[in-house]
Amino acid sequence: MSTMIVVGAQWGDEGKGKIIDVLSENADYVVRYQGGANAGHTLVVKGEKTILHLIPSGVLHPDTTCVIGSGCVLDIETLVVEIKKLKAQGLLQNPKQLLISDNATVILPFHKALDSAREMALAKNKIGTTGKGIGPAYEDRAGRKAILLGDLFDSDSLKIKLQHNLLEKNVLFEKLYNQPPVKIETVLSQIQHVIEEIQPYRCKDTGQIIARAISARKRVLFEGAQGTLLDVLHGTYPYVTSSSTLAGSACSNTGIGPTTITKVVGIIKAYTTRVGSGPFPTELVSDVGEKLRQEGFEFGSTTGRPRRCGWIDLPAIKYAIRLNGITSLALMKLDVLSTHKEIGVCTGYKLNGELLTDYPSTMVDLEKVEPVIEYLSGWNQDLTRITSLKDIPRFATQYIDFIGNHLGCPIDVISVGPGREQTLWVKPLFNK
Ligand code: GDP
Ligand code: IMO
Ligand code: MG
Repeated sequence: MSTMIVVGAQWGDEGKGKIIDVLSENADYVVRYQGGANAGHTLVVKGEKTILHLIPSGVLHPDTTCVIGSGCVLDIETLVVEIKKLKAQGLLQNPKQLLISDNATVILPFHKALDSAREMALAKNKIGTTGKGIGPAYEDRAGRKAILLGDLFDSDSLKIKLQHNLLEKNVLFEKLYNQPPVKIETVLSQIQHVIEEIQPYRCKDTGQIIARAISARKRVLFEGAQGTLLDVLHGTYPYVTSSSTLAGSACSNTGIGPTTITKVVGIIKAYTTRVGSGPFPTELVSDVGEKLRQEGFEFGSTTGRPRRCGWIDLPAIKYAIRLNGITSLALMKLDVLSTHKEIGVCTGYKLNGELLTDYPSTMVDLEKVEPVIEYLSGWNQDLTRITSLKDIPRFATQYIDFIGNHLGCPIDVISVGPGREQTLWVKPLFNK
């Protein structure tokens, strides 16, 4: 049995897409389990870039079945655009390669409008969401008034459900946000053209398909979106996304039991980035931060926003290891640090003069902490052409070892560039 969850161990954009694409060569199924088109997962093959928002990152491998599970929120317009783009590239030629749960929640244009209206109203206190309607859609799911993918194909019940849903939404639009009410007919006409396009990919029970695949000893890879510190319960609340981003949610969100999981791989960047608002103890608002942003090309894959940059934060990653039960780490973007003379590593925090080595449990504390930074020597050597572990320069090895030892978790993969071939394996994770 080989089932692996790949999860972001920071604030997202760690490089999950790249690793999932590489691992997918040996995977039978790749399953997205949460989030929506707020994600932007980048795959680079022979210099050609593909950014995926909803479709699992295994899609470049025609023999790998991609599944979008019940816990995802589907921006159906983006989904159709993504499908069409892939098809035009000669990919996704067999509709059976993509299975979308009928039980997944649909994001409609009014969810996005509500997301934006709320952010505008919050002004300087805004969350900095992607504006993709994620929060409002998950609220509807928890509030038991969501439109599910399966509902789109029964026009009578869809109208009734929309009526029920818009009753409350229109009070918000009209009374709180000073906007015209949303009409059912408008929503229906907005989505009519996409419904047909999605039909071939509908799947009544993706959970059963995944469970059967696991029983048949197929290799199943669960693709996390966002990152641990954006988790709605354990992240830097309220500056988080609206789903559970943790490995544990891969099971509940897709409909399988936790005893079937064999590995959890945490993806970490060799430094830290964050998009949107919220505390970020190791942030570098300086030339060094700007250098990381430029050399790491740290601009959002979904919104194009500049990402905030800072040194690696080990207490935060330790917290992620605990929350997800991470068994292996993949260290990404090591090449981006190559031109720094010295590289900072946060090993703890100071709070009111006292040393903390654990992640603060309250936001009030997190906002007040000062990072304790140790500086390690840089290596001043390009890493992007390295193909063997033995060619990694001494000071880069020192950096990797320092991180691995401090975290007490093996670093099994080291990434030195965006391309598939720029991946160094300390230990194979998912072999045939
Ligand atoms: P994800 O959301 O976790 O999949 O990450 P994103 O795709 O949003 O952001 C990661 C960015 O870093 C993408 O542009 C990748 O192509 C790029 N990337 C991934 N791994 C590496 C690496 O090892 N080195 C460099 N320089 N870029 C990388
Ligand atoms: P991937 O999968 C980085 C952030 C947003 C914002 C907060 C809430 O590419 O790593 P939302 O639109 O989800 O309500 O926004 O979460 N965010 C991400 N940051 N990577 C992502 O996804 C993100 N998805 C959401 O910037 O701070
Ligand atoms: Mg991303």
